[in-house]
Amino acid sequence: MKEYRVGVVGATGMVGQRFVTLLAQHPWFHITALAASARSAGKTYEEAVGSRWAMPTPMPEAVKNMIVMDAQEVAAVASKVDFVFCAVDMKKDEIKALEEAYAKAECPVVSNNSANRFTPDVPMVVPEINAEHIEVIPAQRARLGTKRGFIAVKSNCSLQSYVPALHPLMKEFGVDKCLVCTYQAISGAGKTFETWPEMQDNCIPYIGGEEEKSEQEPLKLWGKVENGVIVPAKEPSITAQCLRVACSDGHMAAAFVSFKKKPSMEEIKERWASFSGPAQELNLPSAPKQFLHYFEEADRPQTKLDRNLEHGMAVSIGRLRPDTQYDYKFVCLSHNTLRGAAGGGVLLAELLAAKGYFD
Ligand SMILES: NC(=O)c1ccc[n+]([C@@H]2O[C@H](COP(=O)([O-])OP(=O)(O)OC[C@H]3O[C@@H](n4cnc5c(N)ncnc54)[C@H](OP(=O)(O)O)[C@@H]3O)[C@@H](O)[C@H]2O)c1
Repeated sequence: MKEYRVGVVGATGMVGQRFVTLLAQHPWFHITALAASARSAGKTYEEAVGSRWAMPTPMPEAVKNMIVMDAQEVAAVASKVDFVFCAVDMKKDEIKALEEAYAKAECPVVSNNSANRFTPDVPMVVPEINAEHIEVIPAQRARLGTKRGFIAVKSNCSLQSYVPALHPLMKEFGVDKCLVCTYQAISGAGKTFETWPEMQDNCIPYIGGEEEKSEQEPLKLWGKVENGVIVPAKEPSITAQCLRVACSDGHMAAAFVSFKKKPSMEEIKERWASFSGPAQELNLPSAPKQFLHYFEEADRPQTKLDRNLEHGMAVSIGRLRPDTQYDYKFVCLSHNTLRGAAGGGVLLAELLAAKGYFD
């Protein structure tokens, strides 16, 4: 496989640090630029991150002395890389402008930000679910007037557990409606217990914008490419409540589902066990071998025990049982900064590389 030079824009942040950690040993992608705000620019990566390093493993040696670039100096960053990963904490319109500036500098952008998730010709992809949406990229390039440059995004971390669990059941059984409550870790806000001490022994029943994303983004994932845009699906109806809980990493979800044609519990478990997608078929380096793992134990999955399953790229499911108001209920878990953020971004980039979009 061809190898590529990559940049991380927002490299000093929580998701950026995950990208740096994952890319330090990547077989296809090699970091040649790190960028962040003007506050960090000109410092070594080690100085710029300082005490904010929040990864469980030490900062990779190869990046410690790299000089952080100013993310706004787009031409300079773009000249050093074949594409960038982007995860920045800025206003939505500023992120949109920044991502478009990179794309227009002929530097493809694989983004973790929400700013472009509903741009109709920007594919939002979970490689096991809707890999074919990348076919909208030529239409986006035509709009942007680029030859190489484009933006592709990954979806929000909150839905990375229940959407993969629902997906293998959709076609055959028709998901009618879904109610979901998510229990989301503090790293999802770019925080640790040191930087957010109020979260110790606490639960906060509000995460700005998260419920809307949890309800709407799945419909784009299940949409279709038509005339150069992605037309979102109209169903199923999803209602969500999203809570911040005192966990460092790992978003849990409790889901309640009704079907048009009710499957048996055995049928559901069999569809989960046998499910795979293009990420597995293409043998992408970051793809979990088994995407969906079902636990028979009544007290699993647990955030602390199971979030790192298959390097944090698999989804754990458990407690499937009949419900009194919906057909079934179950719980599911995914690692929010791995599968839900940087890991999902790297997997999307691997799909784009395998399909020739960075050439
Ligand atoms: N955390 C998660 O689990 C998660 C999951 C999915 C998606 N996301 C999304 O990923 C993005 C980053 O999240 P995060 O949790 O990593 O945030 P974070 O820890 O606050 O990091 C923010 C990053 O943005 C940079 N930045 C801030 N202002 C900037 C500017 N004006 N120009 C250029 N860079 C700037 C920061 O650089 P300095 O260090 O120089 O300030 C830092 O590198 C957000 O859009 C978030 O919604 C996060």
